[in-house]
Amino acid sequence: MERLDKVLANLGYGSRKEVKALCKKEEVIVNGVPVKDSSMKVDTENDVIEVKGEVLNYREFIYLLMNKPDGVVSATFDNYDETVIDLLDEEYKAFKPFPVGRLDKDTVGLLLITNDGELNHKLISPKNHVDKVYYAEIDKCVTKDDAKAFERGITLDDGYLCMPGKLNILEADENGSRVEVTIQEGKFHQVKRMFESLDKNVVYLRRISFGPIKIDESLEEGEFRELTEEEINILMNLK
Ligand code: URA
Repeated sequence: MERLDKVLANLGYGSRKEVKALCKKEEVIVNGVPVKDSSMKVDTENDVIEVKGEVLNYREFIYLLMNKPDGVVSATFDNYDETVIDLLDEEYKAFKPFPVGRLDKDTVGLLLITNDGELNHKLISPKNHVDKVYYAEIDKCVTKDDAKAFERGITLDDGYLCMPGKLNILEADENGSRVEVTIQEGKFHQVKRMFESLDKNVVYLRRISFGPIKIDESLEEGEFRELTEEEINILMNLK
């Protein structure tokens, strides 16, 4: 059991004082009865709590899928730039969510956002071998030898030997290339640095899947949606 005012404050309904004022106006109803004492204890699993006529959908965790736009940083706070969290509605910000791993400021595409630390750890730990797939455009002609180098494991500029990756060439000529890259790690600027070690540059990078979750093409860049029950179950059942 938890204090009602604390539960509502955590969900973004204002400070405890503001929740008290809402109760006074009879705008908070628990199991059909207007609340007189905002510090009353509630069972968030079983009590039906209504605020301003809307039944509260109480839950501990949220799981969001964003199509990250260019120019926004994957962080919860930044002194200079807009963050992916700034793009969320207040009702979601109240859960104190954070991005699962990072995409560079200029990388677009699939970004999971949650407040579930355990799932986050499971998804970003390289030990768990979760595939991340990127669509990339490269400034030069990507070759089969490059694909073999990805398979063997590329050594980055700082000497780090990457786990084997997959490089699928969609189109390549002297004007540039379009490729798909699959990696299981998430080192800083990893895809860009992998190509730099082959003396090539990534000019556009978009993540198209993260483990079993695929980008939702119906989301414009900057838009997001909650994961479906099915998508959440699939993530929960990942080893
Ligand atoms: N690799 C990169 O270089 N940048 C990203 O944002 C993701 C993977």
